[in-house]
Amino acid sequence: MANEKELELACQKFRKILEEQLDRVENMKEQGDFVDYGKLDVVKIGVCGGDGIGPTITAQARRVLEFVLADKVEQGKVEFIDIEGLTIENRIAKGKAIPDDVMQSLKSCHIILKGPTTTPQKGSGMPNIESANVAMRKALDLFANIRPVKVPEEGINWTIFRENTEGGYAVGSSGFNVTPDLAVDFTITTKQGSDRIARLAYDYARKNKLERVSLVTKANVIKTTDGNFLEDCHKVADQYPEILTDEWYADIMTAKLVDKKRRRDFKVLLLPNLYGDIISDEAAEFQGGVGTAGCANIGKKYAMFEAIHGSAPRMVTEGRAQYADPCSMLRACVMLLSHIGLQDRADKLERALDICSFEEKKFVITGRDTGATCDEFGDYVMATLKKL
Ligand code: IPM
Ligand code: MG
Repeated sequence: MANEKELELACQKFRKILEEQLDRVENMKEQGDFVDYGKLDVVKIGVCGGDGIGPTITAQARRVLEFVLADKVEQGKVEFIDIEGLTIENRIAKGKAIPDDVMQSLKSCHIILKGPTTTPQKGSGMPNIESANVAMRKALDLFANIRPVKVPEEGINWTIFRENTEGGYAVGSSGFNVTPDLAVDFTITTKQGSDRIARLAYDYARKNKLERVSLVTKANVIKTTDGNFLEDCHKVADQYPEILTDEWYADIMTAKLVDKKRRRDFKVLLLPNLYGDIISDEAAEFQGGVGTAGCANIGKKYAMFEAIHGSAPRMVTEGRAQYADPCSMLRACVMLLSHIGLQDRADKLERALDICSFEEKKFVITGRDTGATCDEFGDYVMATLKKL
């Protein structure tokens, strides 16, 4: 048969992928419960600035967070730790998505506050290393990417639960050319992976008295992996009889999100990784763009908080970095505070951000010198917090 050698090589590569994924399944089976931050003597928050506008907006988020947590820092209950080296230059120099020493520092913290990092793309001239976000989510097993979107005047209040370690992302850098003419990538779904994200989404809906969870897949086409995701989500849904579960295909969901009459009915969206990536950018656009949206990446042992957008290198080359919007990172800080059990402080910061962004709007970020600087906005948020 033609291409016998290539086929043999491809089968070997495929086998290796399957072996790694089967190991991952075994690890998931052995996982314990979520960390109880209340029981820790000190909560260590590692801060990585990232690339592009990352250092600017992360510094602002850290400043506000340090202000909100000043007493805890003083009492030694919260510690901020600078993590250097998660930059595109260093990652290229070390030839790794996350260099070993950086990974060690990340793992010595409980919580990570991370600025956007630049992701090289095939043919960009940069070495095609894996995205630092994706690598971190996988290495720290941050299986839930939670992305809230709120437009109060339109009745929009959505929380997107994006599976964060599987789907097209699990081995997104391990696809290969079988022959010069034939390329393959892989998408992965596991029972354990679907079950744990579904539980988190339904628990969230129950706790927050949200009456609907919408499952979004392309199970009509991607029959096995999306089909299993759907099946496993329904098994979890059965344990939450008070919550209505409905199903949508990802294409029609993108359309329904622009349907003003229907979209306010959505509450919690539960999706595999890639659809969650795409739909969360669309959803954030209604709120004022990706620059306004933050997210939590939650695992059993670690959690990482970041913006949902990229590093916007053009803002830096055009000399506009100081006008970058810190709201995405500040919204991520709201989720961080909530995650470590400081819900009242989370609520207060969220309130301050709502006042600054939607109500008072004394300082407005435009991304250019027509608007406020990132620093001015940070001051504005802290001044607003002081009045609450
Ligand atoms: C996100 C981003 C990342 C992703 C990129 C930067 C790899 O778009 O956090 O949504 O695709 O997950
Ligand atoms: Mg994205």
